[in-house]
Amino acid sequence: MSGNRNLIGFFDSGVGGLSVLRQVHRDLPYESLLYVADSGHAPYGNKSVELIIQRSFAITDFLLQQGAKAVVVACNTATAAAIARLRAHFDIPIIGIEPAIKPAVAMTRSGVVGILATGNTVRSVKFAHLLDQHGHRARILVQPCPGLADCVERGEVSGIRPRILLERYLQPLLSAGADTLVLGCTHYPFLIPLIQKLAGTEMAIIDPSPAVARQLRHRLDSAGLLAAGYVTGSTRYFTSGSPDQTAGVMTQLLGQPVKLESLPECFRSIEAFRTGKFTGEDFSHCR
Ligand code: DGL
Repeated sequence: MSGNRNLIGFFDSGVGGLSVLRQVHRDLPYESLLYVADSGHAPYGNKSVELIIQRSFAITDFLLQQGAKAVVVACNTATAAAIARLRAHFDIPIIGIEPAIKPAVAMTRSGVVGILATGNTVRSVKFAHLLDQHGHRARILVQPCPGLADCVERGEVSGIRPRILLERYLQPLLSAGADTLVLGCTHYPFLIPLIQKLAGTEMAIIDPSPAVARQLRHRLDSAGLLAAGYVTGSTRYFTSGSPDQTAGVMTQLLGQPVKLESLPECFRSIEAFRTGKFTGEDFSHCR
């Protein structure tokens, strides 16, 4: 285990969390970042909650091993499934992401808000709680979007496949008069140009990444963990999938070359992890 905790760890089912990482890099340029794309198990949107919890523990354990001083769960689906358990188990700031219903309700003029998210997010207890808290002040239309994150995972952010899916998912929201859209999955910000084209320029689209970056800064600051502002931080990228394939998509999405490393085998495979009990000690043979 590294005694020197000096980086911020991120993870997502795949490439979606890069929408959060790029925002954090803009807002906190002196921080060093380490991103894990769990592309070997993407998408999370249709996986069992147990598997998502297992993957979240394995990856967080890896991030700590690499020297994470804080972890951003850059995935709405993993936040809904696992963040309470992660926070109970790991003793560092763990920042999650959830659909921005509260700001959307404050912003809508038509009184109708659409939420695009994965099936697992909209079925979660955490999401039901969010709706209970803020949903009574506007009409909220919840739209699960199977297949949409997979398009982004393949680098398809324009073209016929994401267009057909988005037309289908946006249609009921547009017919009901929604004027505000919440992007409840970190893959979707990469589709904003297409969404805006299909939904019209008047549609307000809420990407929660800036709020996550603000919350991260606040948590680091209050814990005295903010990096000193001298040198721009470095960024490393890992994947549990095929590095060649994923590096190409990441390079396309970030608009800059990404060098991708393979997640060590014992953090990569479900089989290796299944023999364990969700705890850091189970990975001692990896250290
Ligand atoms: N990017 C993820 C989210 O924010 C998960 C998408 C998926 O793997 O289904 O929910």
